[in-house]
Amino acid sequence: MKSVTNKIILLTSIFLILTIGIVAFVYSQAERNEFVCATEIPQPICGNAFSEKAKEGRNLFNANCAACHKLYKKMVGPSLKGLVQNGRYPSKEYFYEYVRNENKLIEQNDEYAKAINDEYSRDYSHEFELTDLEVEQILEYISE
Ligand code: HEC
Repeated sequence: MKSVTNKIILLTSIFLILTIGIVAFVYSQAERNEFVCATEIPQPICGNAFSEKAKEGRNLFNANCAACHKLYKKMVGPSLKGLVQNGRYPSKEYFYEYVRNENKLIEQNDEYAKAINDEYSRDYSHEFELTDLEVEQILEYISE
């Protein structure tokens, strides 16, 4: 009688082990199939994130402006990303003027320059000795 019980236990165990094995196998196959379906390789987009001009601009920005400005976040000065494109500035030339001779704009009673100065501090005045090309490069960097 005891040996019959043992046999039943043995057979049940084998049955259970087989069932678990089959279920695990089926699952692993299902997963593998899913993986195969997901391997359609998307076309990689290659190329530099920044143009050469913007890279120069980034160096100039880091050396001259980054102490007070971030692209996306207000710091000592306002964030500068997309300054011209998003309509904050009337033109590129305005940016040149602001960076190289902010005082001139203030003296001309330029409304915008006065307002931005009031919002921050009147103490700081931009008088960078940068060439046209350098300012253009910075502008390219903050625009891209
Ligand atoms: C010592 C800190 C400091 C440095 C360095 C600095 N700025 Fe500024 N910037 C400010 C502050 C403060 C303002 C806010 C208005 C003001 O006080 O002139 C400002 C405002 C500006 C604005 C006007 C932003 C707007 O919303 O219209 C521009 C453009 C600008 N900075 C560009 C630059 C560039 C480009 C450089 C680097 C070549 C630079 N700044 C370096 C502090 C700085």
